Amino acid sequence: MLAFLRGKLKGYSPAALLYTQVEPLVFWVVNGLPSFPGFLLRHLVCKLLFRRLAGFIWIQPRVELVNAHRISCGSNVAINTGSYLNALGGIVLGDYVLIGSNVTISSGQHPIDGEGPEIFQRPAVPLEIVIETGVWIGAGAVIMPGVRLGRGSVIGANAVVTRSTEPFSVNVGVPARKLRSRTGFTNDTGGSAH
Ligand SMILES: CC(C)(COP(=O)(O)OP(=O)(O)OC[C@H]1O[C@@H](n2cnc3c(N)ncnc32)[C@H](O)[C@@H]1OP(=O)(O)O)[C@@H](O)C(=O)NCCC(=O)NCCS
Repeated sequence: MLAFLRGKLKGYSPAALLYTQVEPLVFWVVNGLPSFPGFLLRHLVCKLLFRRLAGFIWIQPRVELVNAHRISCGSNVAINTGSYLNALGGIVLGDYVLIGSNVTISSGQHPIDGEGPEIFQRPAVPLEIVIETGVWIGAGAVIMPGVRLGRGSVIGANAVVTRSTEPFSVNVGVPARKLRSRTGFTNDTGGSAH
C-alpha cells in the first residue's frame, strides 16, 4: 500500500497535494444540499475553484467534480444529478451546455499497450475534452478523453462518444454515430420555448 501511495504522490508539490485533499472535502460539504441554497453554494465553490467560470452554473445534488481547477466554463451550464466529471486533462465547457444525469466525462486515459507494468500502475495520460456552446448530452452518456463535441451537437442517452462530433449533429449509440443533423428546420432562427 505504501509503495502504491508513493507512486501516486510522485511529482506533487505540497500545495498540489493539499489541493487534492481539500477539493473533495469542499464538494462533500455542498454536494447534497437541495434547492436554491445548494445551487448557489455549488456555484460559488466552482467560481472559486474553476480555472474560469464566466456565468452561472447549475449543478444538481450528487454531481462529482474532480480536478475542478482544470475546468473552464462559459455561462448558463447545467449538470444533472449523478454525473462525474474528471478534468485531469482539462475540460472546456462553452455556454448553454446541458449535461444530463449519470453522464461520465473523464479526460484521462491509462496507456494499455504491452503486458507490463499492470495498467493499475501506469499513470493516466491527460487528454483534454472540449464541449462547445449549445451541446446537450443525454442521460448516461460517456464522453471519452480527447473528444470535442461540436457546437450545438446532441448526444443521445447512453451513447459512448469515442470521436469528435460535427456541429449541430445528433449522435447515438455505442460507439456513437451521427444519426442526423439538427439544421434545415423551420425553427432554426429561434423556436419558441413554450
Ligand atoms: C438522441 C435523441 C435526442 C434523438 O431524438 P430524435 O432525433 O427525435 O430520434 P428518434 O426518436 O426519431 O429516433 C431515431 C432513431 O434513433 C434511435 N435512437 C434514438 N435515441 C437513441 C439513443 N439514445 N440510443 C440509440 N438509438 C437511439 C431510435 O431508436 C430510432 O431508430 P430507428 O430509426 O431504427 O427506429 C433522443 O433519442 C435522446 O436520446 N435524448 C436524450 C434524452 C435524455 O437523456 N433525457 C434526460 C437528460 S436531460
